[in-house]
Amino acid sequence: MRRTLIAGNWKMNGSLSSLETLINGIKEGLADVKNADMAVCPPAIYIPRVSELIGDASIGLGSQNICDQESGAFTGELAPSMLKEFNCNYAIIGHSERRSLYAESDELVARRFAMAVKSGITPLFCIGETLDEREAGVTQDVVSRQLDAVINTQGIEALAQCVIAYEPVWAIGTGKTASPEQAQAVHAFIRGKLAALNTSVADKVQILYGGSMNAANAAELLSQPDIDGGLIGGASLKAVDFLAIGKAA
Ligand code: PGA
Repeated sequence: MRRTLIAGNWKMNGSLSSLETLINGIKEGLADVKNADMAVCPPAIYIPRVSELIGDASIGLGSQNICDQESGAFTGELAPSMLKEFNCNYAIIGHSERRSLYAESDELVARRFAMAVKSGITPLFCIGETLDEREAGVTQDVVSRQLDAVINTQGIEALAQCVIAYEPVWAIGTGKTASPEQAQAVHAFIRGKLAALNTSVADKVQILYGGSMNAANAAELLSQPDIDGGLIGGASLKAVDFLAIGKAA
């Protein structure tokens, strides 16, 4: 039985004071979230403060990216060892905003993935098609290509050490959610593709949905057999909304 994971991607939002309100609010309501693990991914500069505020509460902590190298001359990047010093157990990798706005290739994403796994940090590995790609009927080709970048370099077993986030790009931050049926169809395709290579990896791996998931649509999305949680942007910025998604699981 796969656990449900609800992870918040704060993107480049918040301030020192707002994150304090947010984390304290999540902590206060956490006892009512019975069937999901919760995690937050703050902007990197706030990771130490968020780690401190989380204390021993059971809230996972993640970064929004991770370097593909251990240390050295990589201006602007975050080393896995640094993230571990502040108790990060997750790193978002290959988010569509990184892929499209900062030109991260499938190959670079795969290298970041490898470094996270090597360092004991669980990748929240994002894949998903754009609107043009969906309309052209190539959704399965796109997610396959993105998955293959990791499978072909690190082997199918590496996927057992990550969480996959299927995030249709057209649903991110647009208020347009994929319908539960649309999302389930792609999740089932992803799991089927993995199962063709290794059934135990396919059974084990959590596949989250991301793209305008909120308190109102979470229950239906999370009730789909292959949807094991959510990667939440906008609705993770208010404790009540974020907790409501956790409670919907
Ligand atoms: P959204 O973002 O929930 O605001 O659509 C999701 C994401 O980008 O991870």
